Amino acid sequence: MKQITVVGVGYVGLVTAAAFSDLGNRVVALDISEEKIEGLRRGEMPIYEPGLEELVRRNVEAGRLTFTTTYEEALDEDSEFAFICVGTPSGVDGEADLKYVEASAKSIAEHMQAPLIVINKSTVPVGTGDWVAGIIKASQPKPIDFSVVSCPEFLREGSAIPDFMRPHRTVLGSMDREAADKVAQLHLPLRAPIVITNLRTAEMIKYASNAFLATKISFINEIANICEALGADVKEVAAGMGFDDRIGPHFLNAGLGYGGSCFPKDVKALAFMAEEMGIEPTILNSVMSTNETRRPLVVERVKEMLGGDLSGKTIGLLGLAFKPNTDDMRDAPSVDIAEGLIAGGATVRGYDPVSMEVASPMMPGVEMVDNPYDLAKGSDALVVATEWNEFKNLDLESIKASMKQPVIFDGRNIYDPDKMQMDGFVYRGLGRGYNGNGSNGMTIQEQDVETA
Ligand code: UGA
Repeated sequence: MKQITVVGVGYVGLVTAAAFSDLGNRVVALDISEEKIEGLRRGEMPIYEPGLEELVRRNVEAGRLTFTTTYEEALDEDSEFAFICVGTPSGVDGEADLKYVEASAKSIAEHMQAPLIVINKSTVPVGTGDWVAGIIKASQPKPIDFSVVSCPEFLREGSAIPDFMRPHRTVLGSMDREAADKVAQLHLPLRAPIVITNLRTAEMIKYASNAFLATKISFINEIANICEALGADVKEVAAGMGFDDRIGPHFLNAGLGYGGSCFPKDVKALAFMAEEMGIEPTILNSVMSTNETRRPLVVERVKEMLGGDLSGKTIGLLGLAFKPNTDDMRDAPSVDIAEGLIAGGATVRGYDPVSMEVASPMMPGVEMVDNPYDLAKGSDALVVATEWNEFKNLDLESIKASMKQPVIFDGRNIYDPDKMQMDGFVYRGLGRGYNGNGSNGMTIQEQDVETA
């Protein structure tokens, strides 16, 4: 049993703390927010993440997982590892803002009582590990041995627990091989390949991975535009491409572009780092500019479908969260789409299975309703903004009957264009060139085309 401290109980920290305690370690999770820690002590999760509540409960009950707001309690002479899992928001120019990382490094230095391995899991600019080491050294009241290891996280919101338990790889970066080996030991039960590099390389692996996935998304969105113009179907194109191992089927879902708390921030931060070094990040810049076109495009398309005028129209947003299985609304396309529709004179209503409480204050002009069927009532159009599973098998007959006009814009391409047309909907997706003559006969087995 190792003793681990985890600083920060956001998506990354809480999942890391719960998962390491489930692997049999003793974990103390610390956050400066009294509210979050009080809630966790009562068994209330600060975020929605499938399976998390149960994982936390089980390990709290077993006495392996505890919560605190003080570094005195979080670090004692038995602590061997301290994970930094705090937020790194975007600064004004796209640079990562490291104030929380700095504060936690200082506090760790001030309170550590025995040799400690400090592991950085937050996504931080290349070079931050060295900087953190400098802060710890300068802030220690008396010198105690420590090492800094970078261990970037590759968790997706909505599937963070399975991603943690079955990672594709564990990346560890350090100038101290012995420390990296000790952190590798912690990860051995996960049975994934372990890549050990220097600090800066590990930090870069994280940015390059997220930027590459964002590139795939912008690429397929550009292909979607071309498909639309030429009468091809991007979903079938992606499936056809994805069977090639060199390309792979993942992250080729065309749609509203990437949002959330990671890709937008990380692509921007990597471009910023490149520019600081005098390198023009042409690909990253294109990835970002392609992504920026997706949300206004939806507003334009919906307007076209409603005869060129949004004023007086009622439009329902099916889904608000930036992706399914999360209540996270950070950089969610639905927010910009709602604003665009409202600016055009429309009345916008919204429904989401889990994010409405979080979404409401961010979308003051949007009326929230209880279910997709209430959303359809009296609507001139519905816009699929999040691909929740529960939207995939709606009773479309009753949806159509209660809408003012049977118009659906499918921003996530979850419906079959042919079927929707046959069912009497005026339907459009993104990148699904459609001439009304039926598809070309190619069938896609959904289960074979797992893209996220
Ligand atoms: C992403 C990465 O997938 C994780 O590996 C990484 O650890 C995490 O960022 C992070 O840096 O913390 P996440 O933001 O939770 O995870 O969500 P993703 O599933 O990657 O989706 C990101 C965005 O891309 C979403 O807006 C999603 O709708 C969009 N997306 C994804 C597409 O538009 N098309 C796709 O094919 C896949």
